[in-house]
Amino acid sequence: MERTFIMIKPDGVQRGLTGEIIKRLEQKGFNLIGMKMMSVSRELAEKHYDVHRDKPFFGNLVEFIISAPVVAMVWEGEGVVASARKIIGATNPLSAEPGTIRGDYGISIGRNLIHGSDAVETAQREISLWFEETELSSWEAAL
Ligand code: CMP
Repeated sequence: MERTFIMIKPDGVQRGLTGEIIKRLEQKGFNLIGMKMMSVSRELAEKHYDVHRDKPFFGNLVEFIISAPVVAMVWEGEGVVASARKIIGATNPLSAEPGTIRGDYGISIGRNLIHGSDAVETAQREISLWFEETELSSWEAAL
């Protein structure tokens, strides 16, 4: 079953949006199979954002992610990678559609509340970076 990595960034945690974000993904029908609040090491933040290493915002981005706790999660379900990206909205909250998380709650690209994997292969890489397989509990509704 497809999995994606979702991180509620320090601004999302501090604005009290953790519950709202989880609610939106749950109500869509995806399964939360792993979650931890954590302070991120510089090494992990740099590895996670390695693809942006040469971008001008890389330094500020890493500093922000390690500045305060984040909530790291793995979600499972059919088509979850693309669907979660739609629920999250465009990277720049000013361009994100109303009804999306960033569209409803954000105005700054540097404080866009949440990260979601952009492709299935990226999700696999990010999940293995952030979680041990033993920290994940896959389940199916028995109701
Ligand atoms: P995220 O989905 O976590 O992936 C890369 C992050 O870089 C992005 O969200 C933004 O929070 C951050 N970022 C900061 N400045 C920029 C920028 N100018 N363009 C794109 N991403 C940016």
